[in-house]
Amino acid sequence: MKTIAVVNGPNLNRLGTREPEVYGSETLEDLESRLTEEASKLGVTVQFHQSNHEGTLVDLFGQLSDEAVAGVILNGAAYTHTSVALRDAISASGLRVIEVHISNIYSREEFRKHSYTAAVAEGVITGLGFNGYSYALQQLAV
Ligand code: DQA
Repeated sequence: MKTIAVVNGPNLNRLGTREPEVYGSETLEDLESRLTEEASKLGVTVQFHQSNHEGTLVDLFGQLSDEAVAGVILNGAAYTHTSVALRDAISASGLRVIEVHISNIYSREEFRKHSYTAAVAEGVITGLGFNGYSYALQQLAV
């Protein structure tokens, strides 16, 4: 059975209470239970990771590469816009990665319009809320 990793970056542990007008009122736990249910229907396994630390996310890509997971759904959050290290880790991992953002990063501040990680991702889904993770899961499950 394929394993797909869902990797959430900084501050996404605060979903539900963090700026609900931007990110909605559902929690990270809600997202994870939704994806677990969807994964079982798709016949895949999902594993979940969240970190507020850049180096931990870099290390994680090395681990996921060693585990040879079938794909990664990544919301790198603020590190999307700042981290060459995360981009290099994705690139080095050789893994299929789909970048997801809950909000539409193109309709917000200028600094959010650039993603270091988008160019090394298979695709990017932005602005579709939690549905973006579900669409990415469907894509990686096949
Ligand atoms: C985000 C968008 C980023 O700009 C922001 O730093 C986040 C969340 C999103 O899911 O919309 O933390 O990745």
